[in-house]
Amino acid sequence: MKRILIAATALAAMAATHASAADEATLKRGEYLVTIMSCTDCHTPGNFGPSPDMEHKLGGASVGFFLPGLGYFYGPNLTPHEETGLGKWSEAEIVTALREGVRPDGRVLAPIMPWTAFASLTDEDAFAIAAYLKSLPAYEHAVPGPQGPDAAPPAPYQAVVLPDGTIIR
Ligand code: HEC
Repeated sequence: MKRILIAATALAAMAATHASAADEATLKRGEYLVTIMSCTDCHTPGNFGPSPDMEHKLGGASVGFFLPGLGYFYGPNLTPHEETGLGKWSEAEIVTALREGVRPDGRVLAPIMPWTAFASLTDEDAFAIAAYLKSLPAYEHAVPGPQGPDAAPPAPYQAVVLPDGTIIR
């Protein structure tokens, strides 16, 4: 009996090791994809400045974009913070936003979030990205929500500006 118990414990330990090895590989894949797909550029505090805050990478942009006719958009906080990040989103909801550009509340994301380019991500890669985002340390940072084109910009932004200073609206 004792021997069976020991064998069972050893098997359980092996299974646990195997599971965490697979998770580790998935997280590494997610980190790799997030890095080469430039998510950090648009979703990190201090973005487009001389020294992005990589200690809080993906913790939400400080500089947004002005899109003519649409308004002002700031790369949201992608860390799992419950109130200011993706803490309440499931991995499947993150994958839908990535590939279809649709948030859980049904709003379609502005095209500056390049979801049309991400539409053909495989399930494996899309879920690796979602798993990696969920593994980040939660960082509390509320990014301004989108604003219509006639609103006052809530924070710095990038826009297309003509040489005479006119902003393309
Ligand atoms: C060129 C800039 C840019 C890049 C690159 C980019 N994003 Fe975004 N992303 C944005 C902006 C801006 C928004 C907000 C759009 C809106 O609210 O309509 C957004 C929205 C999102 C959202 C929805 C979050 C929410 O709270 O509504 C998710 C999830 C997301 N991006 C994940 C990613 C991931 C993962 C990558 C890399 C694979 C990535 N983004 C690359 C700019 C970018």
